[in-house]
Amino acid sequence: MKNSISTFMNAKHNGEKLTMLTAYDYSTAKIIDGAGINGILVGDSLGMVCLGYKDTLSVTMEDMLHHIKAVTRGAKNALVVGDMPFMSYQTSVYDAVKNAGRMIQEGLAGAVKLEGGATVYEQVKAIVKSQIPVMGHIGLTPQSVNVFGGFKIQGKDEIKAKKIIEDAKKLEQAGVFSIVLEGIPYKLAKIITETVSVPTIGIGAGKYCDGQILVYQDMLGLFSDFKPKFVKVYGNAGEVMRKAFEDYNDEVKSSAFPDEEHSFKIDENVINKLY
Ligand code: KIV
Repeated sequence: MKNSISTFMNAKHNGEKLTMLTAYDYSTAKIIDGAGINGILVGDSLGMVCLGYKDTLSVTMEDMLHHIKAVTRGAKNALVVGDMPFMSYQTSVYDAVKNAGRMIQEGLAGAVKLEGGATVYEQVKAIVKSQIPVMGHIGLTPQSVNVFGGFKIQGKDEIKAKKIIEDAKKLEQAGVFSIVLEGIPYKLAKIITETVSVPTIGIGAGKYCDGQILVYQDMLGLFSDFKPKFVKVYGNAGEVMRKAFEDYNDEVKSSAFPDEEHSFKIDENVINKLY
């Protein structure tokens, strides 16, 4: 069944959990879509897990559009959300609407996501007014890594926890259809989830969120630079790949591959005429 922002809103209303994963290419999007996952985020985590940057700050609009286009070709039923990269919406309301529009018009995404609460209120309101669904993202927002002084859990003291709750309310007021809660204590995520009417999607925010999202390379053991505490590895695809690459290397070097089964035949009469 095709997922839309109504699916997300209805799920919260009916107490049904939502699932999201990230994807950055056609083939992976197709597999995730076929597994019945509600939403696919083409995250700016692209910068770290696909492009090898140390953080997400170098990712551009062009990078994002390139990958959003690939994912939307592969996803038939999942709601595809395009992640707005650093400096594509912080600079002005005009830039925010223009760049969100490109994700829909060129990338064919069904919604966009951007980081921040009260500080991006005007941007979110203007994008929503342009008929583009927006997913908020608060807590450990990776584009603020230099302000946070690293990828650190947020909202642990009273002032910071209250600020995150206020940010959630502000995003709701601005018209978001859902909010990602990243890297915050699970009891704070529970309060936010009970406070706002839109579904919360957690990553490192515990079980009380209305849904969950993981970066697919993390949950498949494909990204080994670091492993956050909140990541559960559901299958070690990294190990499966490494073993397959080693077997291929050995078989080519020992002339075991390609064998007859993986080769094409030709009539011997034709071959004889070629000598
Ligand atoms: O870029 C991303 O993958 C994200 C998720 C971690 C929510 O923003």
